[in-house]
Amino acid sequence: MDRKISINVNACLPEMIIAETIYSDYGAVIVWEKTELNQNIINRLKDLDIEIIQVYESSLPHNRKRKEVKPQKKEEANFTESYEKNTDEFKTVLQDLSAGKTSSIEKTHKIVESVYARKDQHREIIDCVTQIRKIDEYTYYHSINVSMLSMLIGKWMKLMPDDIRLLTQAGLLHDVGKCRISPAIINKPDKLDEDEYEEMKKHSEYGYYLVQYIEGMDRKVMETILYHHERYDGSGYPMGLVGEQIPLFARIVGVADTFDAMTANRPYRLKSSPFNVFELMQNGCFGYLDPIVLNAFLLNISYYYIGSKVRLSDGRNAEVVYINRQQYGKPVVKVGEDYLDMSVIKNITIMEML
Ligand SMILES: [Fe+2]
Ligand SMILES: [Fe+2]
Repeated sequence: MDRKISINVNACLPEMIIAETIYSDYGAVIVWEKTELNQNIINRLKDLDIEIIQVYESSLPHNRKRKEVKPQKKEEANFTESYEKNTDEFKTVLQDLSAGKTSSIEKTHKIVESVYARKDQHREIIDCVTQIRKIDEYTYYHSINVSMLSMLIGKWMKLMPDDIRLLTQAGLLHDVGKCRISPAIINKPDKLDEDEYEEMKKHSEYGYYLVQYIEGMDRKVMETILYHHERYDGSGYPMGLVGEQIPLFARIVGVADTFDAMTANRPYRLKSSPFNVFELMQNGCFGYLDPIVLNAFLLNISYYYIGSKVRLSDGRNAEVVYINRQQYGKPVVKVGEDYLDMSVIKNITIMEML
């Protein structure tokens, strides 16, 4: 077992590996365990007045002999490969289901296991779900993305491992009923008319009917499929459930679903979207998403953008150094030696990620 060593942040060097997740005074994650340090992270830790951290002994410079091949690069390649493979497999499941072959649901267990096996690769997951996707493949990528995001939220909310696995399955299958909706409606690029929208809304019930007789299907997964469009304020469908009448899994998948839909709807602006989406979710979705689930999501996902480089609307480049919990879409950024609090400065915005 690799030993953990306490080390002063001032003595930290890039490539050391964090051995224990570092939390802020408010309990928010600053850096996850197993993250490889770089200068950005070290600077951020200093900015936050963190003094002592734990690193793995094997990552100290004199112990780092065996590192000709960068393992991280290899992991990333594998991650993307398995992401694409899962998406392709889920595509065949949905195609089989549209043709009436319900036995295909069995194949989803393999996909769930493959997604679940990556449960600790937070950064890769977040990178994948925010990448540009092909519009016509939307439903397949969306299902895998919601599965991964729901899994992360389950982890961040400290659910039990068995529940996290079920949540992964629930996220994967949440829109399975769409296979019973006409492709003309599913792929319509314009806004749906009233009848089409009413038809589209039936996908949650169709999905529920589709899985209800499948052997071994957990009740929590079935409920999530049926209730993932219920809204905290009672404005959702099919039942108009309110607050905690909506099962927890459905409230979690509701947040993951909203985030993925918001990022995917703006492919041409995707690079600029994380902070826009955080802002929209925080301001626009209070009321219809469970505030506790939403906050757990925004609090944790936003920290992955600390240290990222952005271009401001006045043309200057900046680095995100602090996430403001009151306004996740408006972080504090560092420009040269100056710090700009985007929540206070009204005439400058974040234009894009670099
Ligand atoms: Fe849905
Ligand atoms: Fe969805």
